[in-house]
Formats: sequence, structure tokens, C-alpha cells
Amino acid sequence: TNAISAELIESIRTIPNYPKEGVLFRDITTLLSNPRAFRRAVDALVQPWAGSKIEQVAGIEARGFILGGAVAHQLSAGFLPVRKKGKLPFKTLQQDYQLEYGMDTIEIHCDAVKQGEKVIVVDDLIATGGTAEAAVKLLRSAGADVVAACFIVDLPELQGRAKLEALDIPVRTLVEFP
Ligand code: PRP
Ligand code: ADE
Repeated sequence: TNAISAELIESIRTIPNYPKEGVLFRDITTLLSNPRAFRRAVDALVQPWAGSKIEQVAGIEARGFILGGAVAHQLSAGFLPVRKKGKLPFKTLQQDYQLEYGMDTIEIHCDAVKQGEKVIVVDDLIATGGTAEAAVKLLRSAGADVVAACFIVDLPELQGRAKLEALDIPVRTLVEFP
């Protein structure tokens, strides 16, 4: 672990038994409120893509909106919201995905990407990878060239990375929690 990831790890708060018994919730609001940690996280997420002409940053609701907006600005890219169902006002494309109990659905606007547009997916954290996998499928079905997926936090035990790599999506994460 290098100095940047140590600083990021220390800025993330852990809340035991939220939202339910047995879960260690990794709360990034304490990273966002720390000016140095927030800047370092965004800089580190952006770094591989400087000069690579990313056209859209797809941020996953809700915490991916905060980071994705900052990343898009820094790359001079557009921002594309991937939302939970029922929130977007225009015609949408939908993708179902597995939750711990049952299913949920995410959506993008049907005209959110142009054919072949270079897109990166941004979220705060990858756990099982189900949410990000659904976002990649949705963006591809709309014609996007999904170049990578980027997260601050990886929970490697849950093997989300493998789910994205199986779709040929390179995954970048900044810190891991066992
Ligand atoms: C969290 C997190 C990711 C997702 C990761 O969001 O911000 O989007 O879970 O889990 P997965 O890799 O197992 O799919 P959550 O679903 O809690 O929604 P929220 O950001 O609206 O609170
Ligand atoms: N999303 C899924 N698992 C999580 C965790 N342990 N902490 C924060 N967000 C999560």
C-alpha cells in the first residue's frame, strides 16, 4: 500500500451492522468531506485516462454521481447518469440485476450515448459487481464502447472484479478492504 491509498483508507469510515447485521459498511462521506482525500481520489481515478478522449463518464446512482461528476469535469467529458428505475424523465433502456434478496433495475436514457462513444463507468465501491455489470450491459446495449470501470473501494472477497473482467472490462480500484 502506497501513501495515497493509506490516506484514502484512513479517510473512509466503517460502520458495523449497517444496513443490516454482519455488514461492515464502508462510508465514503468522510472521504468526500476531506478536501485532500477527495482531490486525491478523483485525481487517481482520472489519471489513466488523461489524453485518451473519454467522451462520457457514466456515474451510478447515488454515490457514483458525486465522483463521476468530478471525474467528467476533469476529463472534459460529458456525464451520463445511470439511475435506479423510475427516476429518468425521457424514454429509457433498462437492465435488471441481482441484489442480495431479489432483483432491482437500473436505467439510462435511450439516447444517452452515440454509437461507439468511449465511456468509463464510475462508482464509489464494487462489492459483488452486480450493479456495475448491469451498467456495462446497459451501456453496451445502447451502443457505447465501455473502456473501463473505476471505483475507489474494492471488496475483493466478493469478487466483483472478475464479473467485469469476464465482460472484457478493465477494472481500476484505489483501495481494498478485506
Ligand atoms: C452501493 C454502491 C454500489 C453498489 C455496489 O450502492 O454505491 O453502487 O452498492 O454493490 P454490488 O457491487 O454488490 O452491486 P447501493 O446499491 O447501496 O445504492 P445507493 O448508492 O443508492 O445507496
Ligand atoms: N455496497 C455494497 N456493499 C457495501 C459495503 N460493505 N459498504 C458500502 N457500500 C456497499
